[in-house]
Amino acid sequence: MKKRAPLVVANWKLNGGTDLICTSVASFLTKSFKAEIGIAPPYVYISDMVSFLRNSAIMVGSQNVSKFASGAFTGETSAQMLKEVGCGFCLIGHSERRQVFLENDASCHTKIERALTAELMPILCVGENNQQHELGLTQDILYRQLHQALPGLELQGKRLCIAYEPVWAIGTGKAATAEQVQQVHEYIHQELVEILGAEAAGQVQILYGGSVKKDNAAELLAMPNVDGLLVGGASLDPEHFTQICSIANDVAP
Ligand code: PGA
Repeated sequence: MKKRAPLVVANWKLNGGTDLICTSVASFLTKSFKAEIGIAPPYVYISDMVSFLRNSAIMVGSQNVSKFASGAFTGETSAQMLKEVGCGFCLIGHSERRQVFLENDASCHTKIERALTAELMPILCVGENNQQHELGLTQDILYRQLHQALPGLELQGKRLCIAYEPVWAIGTGKAATAEQVQQVHEYIHQELVEILGAEAAGQVQILYGGSVKKDNAAELLAMPNVDGLLVGGASLDPEHFTQICSIANDVAP
């Protein structure tokens, strides 16, 4: 049993559409969750999702946010806009954003500040790639990602989450083992204490993402430093995702 309800977040990436929204919402609304659930569909579906889920505790969020507040930035969406349409959180620095769209730690820092100012909960994604993993550089990479993205934030009364997503585990079916994840999450917590201080670090939930399925969700959530899950592929199957959420219910206080 956890001290705090685990947070399970669905990251739909560039997938889904009206059909998936309808089947997901139908499946969410027939269950009650003790775990905290979040769902991040593509931007254009956020408003629909918010209105369908308005009588539920399920949070809707975005997969990204602009580092700019407003102005001549074609194609961008600001934190304030996301807040206005009903988002509760946003993913920041997902490895696909870093790899494909060349986002870096400095832009993650700015985006986290924008999110906090707009009262959106940022979920900062961090993690090493396969080569770095094999070279034993996991801690070095996480050190850089955390120490560059997090210092100087005004966190009083605000929520921040970290998602540890080893790139080699994303979409590969090769999840990190629960023991590996626990070890890395302990390290992340220790660095959070150094950057934010013990009190603020104690409030930060650390999620794991990378090939989470209903078959490995329970063992991951059983780890003391795993405060939740970020689910990609398996969240596109509403029945599978609600099963993961039910597993999270079992460890919720
Ligand atoms: P996956 O993706 O569950 O499909 O591995 C996780 C993520 O990228 O957030």
